[in-house]
Amino acid sequence: MKNLLSLETLARPDLEQILADAALFKADRERRARRPLAGQSWVMLFAKSSTRTRVSFTVGIHELGGQPVFLSANEIHLGRGEPVRDTARVLGRMAHGAIIRTFAQSDVEEFARFAGIPTINALTDEEHPCQILTDLFTFQEKRGPIQGKVVTFVGDAACNVPCSWIFAAARLGFELRLAAPQAFQPPPALLARAGGRILCTEDLDAAARGADLLYTDVWVSMGKEAEAAERLKILQGYQINQRLVQLAKPGALVMHCLPAYRGKEIDEATFEANAQTIFDQAENRLHVQKAILNWLVTAPPVAQRRA
Ligand code: CP
Ligand code: NVA
Repeated sequence: MKNLLSLETLARPDLEQILADAALFKADRERRARRPLAGQSWVMLFAKSSTRTRVSFTVGIHELGGQPVFLSANEIHLGRGEPVRDTARVLGRMAHGAIIRTFAQSDVEEFARFAGIPTINALTDEEHPCQILTDLFTFQEKRGPIQGKVVTFVGDAACNVPCSWIFAAARLGFELRLAAPQAFQPPPALLARAGGRILCTEDLDAAARGADLLYTDVWVSMGKEAEAAERLKILQGYQINQRLVQLAKPGALVMHCLPAYRGKEIDEATFEANAQTIFDQAENRLHVQKAILNWLVTAPPVAQRRA
């Protein structure tokens, strides 16, 4: 049984298959020719807010022939202390798959282990694999293969989104530069584990010079609200703006996973100048996640099954 819990454990051929299938699902959206979730119910268990992930999975499951069942963690017994493993064993008896957004990565992993149904990480404190698969798809859709390119992430480089970028860089062979204050750089142990060409620096300008993609995320991730004032102070200046764009390669893409806080991690003019890319990126969540769902429920080729 397959899961998508982390980019660290997603093999390159699987990653490439998901990206290739996403293009087919996007091109073929109106025909709805493939319905691999026909007759299935998928639970979406969310302990944090969501606009894009929630709607794209709801619509995607529906378009693949299945039925989404949305559960807010606080409205089920999980929020009142029922253990993850018991919740997982119940949902695993009823549903055909699960999409989980929560805090600890270990909770998603425990859920998958006990539920015994295909499980997708829809964001934890540590990773956001569906987002980064979409970002890779969006970059390649606009600029061709990402191999050999330079991606610069600016801002809180220790949160879920850059962590998933780190695993993607190692897997696909592009250079990743993380521009962040010391306190917001990823743990060295994680970098060592991932491998790949990754540069961590406090020098924003050096990181942006010649980049093919400038990318940012919020300074205050969900769950970190109590640290907001301190974060805004320390991260001040780690912003994508017109000056930084001038340092990147001419025609460099600017992307943002959204939601965006103008005047913080990105300025208004740069956000609006790149809105086409940013909202294409948001739309692509739908197409890429349909490819993920399809990959999860599709049996591997016969030869692989015999191995
Ligand atoms: N980018 C992203 O995951 O958005 P939501 O939090 O709205 O799902
Ligand atoms: N790092 C952000 C991503 C939001 C999609 C957060 O966790 O809130």
